[in-house]
Amino acid sequence: MTAVDGASFVAPVPWFPLPARLAVLLSGRGSNFQSLADACDAGEVPARVVLVLSDRADAAGLAKARARGLPAAVVERAPGEKRATHEDRIAAAIQAAGADVRCLAGFMRVLSPAFVGRFERRIVNIHPSLLPSFPGLEAQRQALEHGAKVSGATVHLVDAGTDTGPIAAQEAVPVLTGDDEASLAARILAVEHRLYAATLARLLGGG
Ligand code: GRF
Repeated sequence: MTAVDGASFVAPVPWFPLPARLAVLLSGRGSNFQSLADACDAGEVPARVVLVLSDRADAAGLAKARARGLPAAVVERAPGEKRATHEDRIAAAIQAAGADVRCLAGFMRVLSPAFVGRFERRIVNIHPSLLPSFPGLEAQRQALEHGAKVSGATVHLVDAGTDTGPIAAQEAVPVLTGDDEASLAARILAVEHRLYAATLARLLGGG
């Protein structure tokens, strides 16, 4: 297997000016978006959010973006619309916003190799497990079902697979006796919020 390095996102000299322009893609609650935006506002991440994009009009994260005065776009997949056409519309919105980096934050679509290739090494994701364990949906449930004693959070660059891209950072979280999906998810989420911002700062070369 070829060695890959999540830190290779970082160029010796950033090829986009800092603060970087972030597009955050989400489908739901948007707590990771909130923590990223907070960290940008606090100067902890050398970036600013230029677009929050959701594939679901009812995503709570959109309302959070609007409440912060940030541009929020809905790009839903129309009934019968081809995946490639939908992705073209997503890419067009991102490009129109002039985003340098795309942060997936609970974006519930698997992006096609063509889409990922367009933004190679410029898409970052957060996942609620220690990848490569428990990729895909319901990672916390998978951890409980396997009887894992440790799970965690992973920040990785996005490649053409599902949660398979080069790992940039991980933090372990214990699975405690009596945990259910909600209690484990909450413990992991607190770590996600911290880890995503800190890792993005490092990847951008400002932290
Ligand atoms: C997080 O657990 C994230 O790791 C996963 O989806 C969840 C999104 O939560 N990809 P939120 O919308 O950021 O609150």
